[in-house]
Amino acid sequence: MDELVALCKRRGFIFQANEIYGGMQGLYDYGPLGVELKNNIKHSWWASMVYDRDDVEGLDASILTAQNVLKYSGHEDTFTDPMVDCKDCKSRWRADQLDGSQCPGCKSKNLTEPRPFNLMFKTSVGPIDDGTSFAYLRPETAQNIFTNFKNVVDSTSKKLPFGIAQVGKAFRNEITPRNFIFRVREFEQMELEFFCLKGTDEKWHKEWVDARIAWWEAQGVSKDSLELYNVPEDELAHYSKATVDIMYKFPHGLEELEGIANRTDFDLGSHSKNQSELNLDALVKENKDSNSKLAVQDIETKNWNVPYVIEPSAGVERGFLAILNEAYRVESLEGGKERTVLGLKAHLSPIKAAVIPLKRNHDGLVAMAQEIKNELQGLKLGRVLLENSGNIGKSYRRHDEIGTPLCITVDFESLEDGTVTVRDRDSMKQDRLKIQDIKSELKKLINGTDV
Ligand code: GAP
Repeated sequence: MDELVALCKRRGFIFQANEIYGGMQGLYDYGPLGVELKNNIKHSWWASMVYDRDDVEGLDASILTAQNVLKYSGHEDTFTDPMVDCKDCKSRWRADQLDGSQCPGCKSKNLTEPRPFNLMFKTSVGPIDDGTSFAYLRPETAQNIFTNFKNVVDSTSKKLPFGIAQVGKAFRNEITPRNFIFRVREFEQMELEFFCLKGTDEKWHKEWVDARIAWWEAQGVSKDSLELYNVPEDELAHYSKATVDIMYKFPHGLEELEGIANRTDFDLGSHSKNQSELNLDALVKENKDSNSKLAVQDIETKNWNVPYVIEPSAGVERGFLAILNEAYRVESLEGGKERTVLGLKAHLSPIKAAVIPLKRNHDGLVAMAQEIKNELQGLKLGRVLLENSGNIGKSYRRHDEIGTPLCITVDFESLEDGTVTVRDRDSMKQDRLKIQDIKSELKKLINGTDV
């Protein structure tokens, strides 16, 4: 973990938030390379969920969430972690993460009894801060997918089964944020709520578990690093009938990367008016505030059915950490030297290619390199850099370390015959290619096809 943290800071992937004022626990900023990797992960998820399927629509809803949404969802009552205080050093800890009954700070055993601590952030809304007008920062992106269920059905005429996908920020006032970006207070979720008829839910649950494992593998996370965990009944969230967690061997241990829950008809039922008219299985709070029935009507029987929901929910930061951890390696080279490589899948690499003139500031070489850079950038595959450093070896090392799949060197031969040296990050193999062939080479590498 220490090596990954150091690489992230050194190369501009991740910085401690508010660092110049001493930093703030559980908050991180994503630098020039971090934002590219993060965007690429989110784009890959979105493409697999929305573009590659005909049964999923997208959504981008507000982060500030009305109290009623999180009252009827059950979060006000149950979204808590057990907290203890150390009476000696005054620190606070999550009771379920203590090693024995000792304060991890001062080792005192003088702790309070655990008490529930609600993880939701509250903020006042409007110009008068008298405590009556407030909203929550959403603790999961899921809830406003549920509250928009009818809007999406009415505007798209979608029929069951279908899903609504959303990627966005979520906030949790974690008692003890830790392990770098693994447990933080502000993070992003990639969530799909997949609505299906009761009775088909268990089949869909299995299908989504398989689909999600395949997706992680396509991002470079090997199956050997993943394990499935069937969450036992006494650990299930209040809305879940069954949850399968995809666990990943993080540097600090085996922990949850993504959860895939069968949320039954709990959420849509909870947010619906006239619940007695609905065929609800879940036990929900009677709702006197909603003005909508989040259900579908059977054309023949006229009965209202509340769809069941299968929810694959992945954290972007945890995905980022897992992908980085899988990609990171230090290789021994001849002469006792080493190189650090981020063997990222090309579609995730922050920089797609670097074009390097052999000699710094040489007019002819730089002009040709700039032309190649512009051509490749024009493919719209992601960022392409011109490295006018004059130090090929140093540029290769830097680009190996940040996961750039191709380095293209322009030398004096290039000026004469229009060929360049193309170096592959993983094999370090160097090929001489015609300039006009580089575009299709890069397209093949990133899209898997040169079309
Ligand atoms: N809507 C369901 C839900 O939110 P969850 O298991 O609490 O379920 C889903 O969260 C995913 O969000 C987790 O698998 C994890 O990847 C990510 N996540 C949750 N809390 C997090 C935190 N404090 N920091 C970073 N990621 C977190």
